[in-house]
Amino acid sequence: MPLDLEFARHQFPALKADDFIYFDNAGGALVLGRVAERIRDYLLTSSVQIGASYSKSALALKRLREAEAGIARLIGAARPEEIIMGASTTMLLQMLAGNCARTLGPGDEIIVSGSEHESNFGPWELLETRGIKLIHWPVEGPDHALEPATLKTLLTDQTKLVCFTHVSNILGAINPVAEITQMVHEAGAKVVVDGVAYAAHRLIEVAKWGVDFYVFSFYKAFGPHHAALYGRAEHLLALPGNNHKYTPHDKIPYKFQPGNPNYELSWGALGILDYLIDLGQRNGGDNLDERQSLRKAFEHIAAHEEGLATRLLDFLNSRQGVSIIGPDTADKNTRVAIISFKIAGKDSREIVAAVDSHNIGIRHGDFHARRLIESLGLAGQHGIIRVSMAHYNRVEEVDRLIAALEPVI
Ligand SMILES: Cc1ncc(COP(=O)(O)O)c(C=O)c1O
Repeated sequence: MPLDLEFARHQFPALKADDFIYFDNAGGALVLGRVAERIRDYLLTSSVQIGASYSKSALALKRLREAEAGIARLIGAARPEEIIMGASTTMLLQMLAGNCARTLGPGDEIIVSGSEHESNFGPWELLETRGIKLIHWPVEGPDHALEPATLKTLLTDQTKLVCFTHVSNILGAINPVAEITQMVHEAGAKVVVDGVAYAAHRLIEVAKWGVDFYVFSFYKAFGPHHAALYGRAEHLLALPGNNHKYTPHDKIPYKFQPGNPNYELSWGALGILDYLIDLGQRNGGDNLDERQSLRKAFEHIAAHEEGLATRLLDFLNSRQGVSIIGPDTADKNTRVAIISFKIAGKDSREIVAAVDSHNIGIRHGDFHARRLIESLGLAGQHGIIRVSMAHYNRVEEVDRLIAALEPVI
């Protein structure tokens, strides 16, 4: 049974507004109607400060706790206290790096991959001022892949952290998180995984993979501008925290949330969980438990996106002068439907402008993965072109994009 696309599209009010085609989903996905409704409901019925004894305050706290528990279930975490909410992935990684800095010292090493969005690179690079050594794990081969075998040669007794992206927002390839994590653990280090470009496309399973830290942003996964950092409880307890001086050391996640997280957005984000369970049950029967429903939802999402990616990649691969930046296959086990390319002799900005005029949203640039784009020599002519698709896109929309691209390529 294919994905129930009409049901899925119906959940996104922005898709009803006009016939605009949205292919900038890795920039920010469209928002679920039920997420927006939850945020509104929170603001109008329980927007008071938590921690007091009156009933509204108790309700606000209950909702915040439910949000933490729900997000923990969404990403397969063992405990709600392992979920730290924050404004963005960038801010959460800066916060994590600041905390780690206070536990590391001269001689310690941090390995950072060459395919990071700047948010998982810059904060670690700053630690060099404290005598911590940054080691680069470069991308390799025609697909610019991260090879675990290369990582193995970089791990030493001094390695404390390995920071890498689950899916690069440029390349779209899925990195083998469980395999890398196991290798890093065997070397006595921890992983910090950027799951931002993965979260809308496949199910996150932090406990199953054994990751130490995993971060993503809800606005890339059908929710609001809000983010979550998962940290294994034992690691969070060991870090110093950055809340008030007197915040108890064992109070997680609170010791990492100075001023508290945004309540209404945390509550709103639960709508993502709710939607995915619904989608899984609609597509797989009612007998599934919550986790099975989530798995089913993402099975359908992956299969549908593979169809979209196949259509676009078949076209791009057949055109002279087009180079795909990342794997040129649509295989759902290899990549998600984030597809970047460059056209020989053409300015990427001009191509995107031509597509804009067809009421289709794609994008060009370096997407804050500047180090990757520069290392591949792709920064000139306004960077690369990126088409990032989500499960609510239709194959017919890809065909309209192809029709718009054909004359300019
Ligand atoms: C792969 C990846 N990581 C991190 C980020 C940063 O996320 P945020 O905007 O929440 O800081 C982005 C944003 O585009 C991204 O694509």
